[in-house]
Amino acid sequence: MSADLLGKSALVTGASRGIGFGVAAELLRRGANVVVTARKVDALEKAAEELRGLGHPGEVVAVAGNSGDAEARAEQVGAAVARFGSLDVLINNTGINPVYGSLMEADLEAVRKIFDVNVVAALGYVQEAYRAWMGEHGGAVVNVASVAGLRSTGVIAAYGASKAALIRLTEELAWQLGPKIRVNAVAPGVIKTKFADALYSADEEAAAAVYPMKRLGSPEDVASLIGFLASDESSWITGTTIKVDGGLLATGGI
Ligand SMILES: NC(=O)c1ccc[n+]([C@@H]2O[C@H](COP(=O)([O-])OP(=O)(O)OC[C@H]3O[C@@H](n4cnc5c(N)ncnc54)[C@H](OP(=O)(O)O)[C@@H]3O)[C@@H](O)[C@H]2O)c1
Repeated sequence: MSADLLGKSALVTGASRGIGFGVAAELLRRGANVVVTARKVDALEKAAEELRGLGHPGEVVAVAGNSGDAEARAEQVGAAVARFGSLDVLINNTGINPVYGSLMEADLEAVRKIFDVNVVAALGYVQEAYRAWMGEHGGAVVNVASVAGLRSTGVIAAYGASKAALIRLTEELAWQLGPKIRVNAVAPGVIKTKFADALYSADEEAAAAVYPMKRLGSPEDVASLIGFLASDESSWITGTTIKVDGGLLATGGI
């Protein structure tokens, strides 16, 4: 095991369960100190305890708050710098998807909220991290996008458009923030979490059958890629979106 993030500190948004929790565990495994966030305090505290129980040397600090709230973002970034003295890694993992089906019937307030949390908040976190630490000292940012940001789904269309915007934002940020700060994104296929439950739980075997790898993804599948993108192992990679989709898009389908 390589502790290549030893002495570094990271902020992972939306980390009380699912992919964010897996990413926090991976960054701890690589030696980092980690701030984790989510809206529900109790679940977040419980997740932080579970992360501490993994026995890695890094510290875990939980700071609850909605990623869509500017004050919460400032508090969470500030907590990392105050507690650990730096913020070297930012993982914009929070994402919401309250709109399904026809775009013609979509509630525009709900669509606005999707873009606010999935795109604007991600930029807000980068701005905070830039001001608090990365602008002067550098760092690595990873945005959690989706295969739905690369290919139409017909079902989760507004969400897909927001993830496409996040992918383009990743490229613009990489250009503006290099060479000190690297900015990349990951595009997962269906990962077995609460968020994606409706996409596979009725018939997991059928859902998995369309993947060349013949299984759905796990949070660990995404976390190991994000650990790589957060570390110096990927020091010449920026502005890229890497698929972690069991080969799904290679088939032309989604
Ligand atoms: N699962 C998939 O198949 C899949 C595929 C592609 C991309 N993704 C992306 O992966 C990311 C994580 O998804 P997941 O599947 O791990 O979801 P999940 O299991 O539902 O976990 C979501 C996490 O984010 C927190 N959260 C949700 N809304 C928040 C907000 N507004 N502010 C702060 N925290 C918030 C949740 O805690 P609280 O509810 O307490 O806030 C929870 O900790 C999302 O960006 C999603 O779009 C997922």
